[in-house]
Amino acid sequence: MSRTGRMMKIELLNEVDSTNLYIKKYVAGSEDVIVCASKQTGGRGTKGRSFFSQEGGVYLSALSFYRDLPAERAFCIMTHAAVAVCRTAERFGVAPEIKWPNDVLVSGRKLCGILIENGISDGKVKYSIVGIGLNAENDLSALNGIAVSLSEAAGRVVPAAAARDGLIENLQKHDSFGEYLSYIRFIGREVTVTEDGRVYRAAARGVLADGRLEIEENGMIRALSAAEISLKI
Ligand code: BTN
Repeated sequence: MSRTGRMMKIELLNEVDSTNLYIKKYVAGSEDVIVCASKQTGGRGTKGRSFFSQEGGVYLSALSFYRDLPAERAFCIMTHAAVAVCRTAERFGVAPEIKWPNDVLVSGRKLCGILIENGISDGKVKYSIVGIGLNAENDLSALNGIAVSLSEAAGRVVPAAAARDGLIENLQKHDSFGEYLSYIRFIGREVTVTEDGRVYRAAARGVLADGRLEIEENGMIRALSAAEISLKI
């Protein structure tokens, strides 16, 4: 069942270029679908980057259709995906945190990336493709310590199939914006903001429901929509 109570098709693939690309063939229909692959040959990340997608990870795309979701509320799609990943990590004894807006980390290392592609017309989200790459039992040694798998974080093997099944289950559950906020650990702390090439220190005050990050710099409060932030060490 999907979150809307509709039956959901689930397709498992051994190998594909990108599940986000593959699932687009279902956009012409009306059925919610999840596609999951054991590996990707052309995994796509945000900002046109590639995404390391070797066997042992979970590479999943979920296509959902919406009837009446205003485009300005589209951030709830991101929060739902991030919370589903966090709940999945916790199921295996791993404590996740969200790096705003869309990375899930464990002790500062990337556990999961999320790439969302929305189909918007007339100010409404008609459909969304939520692409999730979750490290489960894959060898990440080529990434020089910037990424971590569930297995490494848990200290025991977490099979990719178990992580995939947990993630699919959690994607079909409801959650709240408050739960998303509870995983953002840097709120109230000093962060380094990189914004249009400018790098400065600011206090992270919160994340607004529309997805913007509220910061305070020299007594001025602003909401940022497209900045890269990093935590003070
Ligand atoms: C990022 O961190 O830059 C986002 C990575 C998103 C990767 C997932 S893996 C499943 C889906 N298919 C893709 O090609 N990308 C997303």
